[in-house]
Amino acid sequence: MISVVFVCLGNICRSPMAELIFRKMVKERGLERSFCITSRGTSDEEEGNSIYLPAARTLRAHGVEGEHISAQLSKREVMNADYVLVMDSGNLFDVLRLTGGACSDKVFKLCSFTSRPRDVADPWYTRDFEKAYSDIRDGCEGFLNYVLSAHSDMLGYDLRH
Ligand code: 4NP
Repeated sequence: MISVVFVCLGNICRSPMAELIFRKMVKERGLERSFCITSRGTSDEEEGNSIYLPAARTLRAHGVEGEHISAQLSKREVMNADYVLVMDSGNLFDVLRLTGGACSDKVFKLCSFTSRPRDVADPWYTRDFEKAYSDIRDGCEGFLNYVLSAHSDMLGYDLRH
């Protein structure tokens, strides 16, 4: 089982989008039982809230289903995860501050798995949910390709699929 936690600031826009997009990609490859996928926020500002409506609408428009309730990331969750995938440099800083610098080898910016490493700009501020969707999708594809090759023995996945 590979445990993945997607992280943003509020856990109502980018990281739940990433969670549901990645869940769908994994399911399409028949690998859902090999992954534990969730998302968290570095802040507790939105604790208990559903996915922000414009983000949920964008997901639905792209055929991505599912829900998530916002919760704040804990140090224990970082310790227990195999991969902690953050959206931007601010999230990276906040996660490493939470762990006191520990676990830095498993914390990555999502789009570092693409051919064009970049931050996923926060649509809460930019209002560009389509851009967030396409950056997150690109990052999830890059990350999935990475894990499939890094853990191909454990996943029993034939990369010729
Ligand atoms: P997210 O966006 O980090 O992508 O979930 C935000 C949502 C809410 C807030 C900030 C960012 N907020 O300050 O409430």
